[in-house]
Amino acid sequence: MSTPARVVVHPDKQVLADLSGARLLVALVDAQAARGEAHVVLTGGSMGSAILASLGASPGRDAVDWGRLHVWWGDERFLPSGDPDRNETQNREALLGSVPLDPRRVHAIPGPDGPDGDDVAAAASRYAAELASAAPDGEPSPTFDVMLLGVGPDGHIASLFPGHPDQLTSGVAAAAVHDSPKPPPTRITLTFETLRRSDRVWFLVAGADKAEAVRNGVHGAEPSASSAAQVQGLQETLWLVDADAASGLH
Ligand code: 6PG
Repeated sequence: MSTPARVVVHPDKQVLADLSGARLLVALVDAQAARGEAHVVLTGGSMGSAILASLGASPGRDAVDWGRLHVWWGDERFLPSGDPDRNETQNREALLGSVPLDPRRVHAIPGPDGPDGDDVAAAASRYAAELASAAPDGEPSPTFDVMLLGVGPDGHIASLFPGHPDQLTSGVAAAAVHDSPKPPPTRITLTFETLRRSDRVWFLVAGADKAEAVRNGVHGAEPSASSAAQVQGLQETLWLVDADAASGLH
């Protein structure tokens, strides 16, 4: 089950961040109204933090029951806790450090300072086990309410790089990535099958250098050209873009 891509164009990157932050706020409040808990998957890059900063500046932000929000990451650079290049560190600075989250529901991806040390494969397995432990019996992960995904100019999402041998890893919820084309070379990523276990998938993309990646993603390019095109939400697939990123669409 998946949904067709819909595109929403915003005049510029700041408006994109602000309206996406508002959209996320409403989605989390709605999910918690329905089920109490909610699950969100965060992303790195400039848009991943910009949406959180905008949500944090909203007067409505405390309509979210922060203590009952599960926070996950789509990928992480395999760096120690607190490293400024970790997605987690950047997201904490943007918002997470200033809202009353329950630490037991903040699911950071382990780094080399974690229980498995430098063994990135073991750390990826540990994250997969954590996903399963928060899932209904027998399922590999929760169904996420919102999956946020930044997109690289090469069409990558999370740490799934088009054409890279680790891109198509399957049968596990999270995987190690070696020799990433973008530094740092060692990472942990959710796999395609886990990314797809999301009610809402939102791609957040700004800038003219992303125009081709947006076109390929929206038009359903092959995995060798676009990782983004391989992921749709169960209820909604939105490309939330600025005018520059949309410039390759007709
Ligand atoms: C990384 C990056 C990367 C980023 C996208 C989108 O893991 O090396 O963080 O995956 O999320 O390139 O970045 P922007 O939101 O800045 O365009």
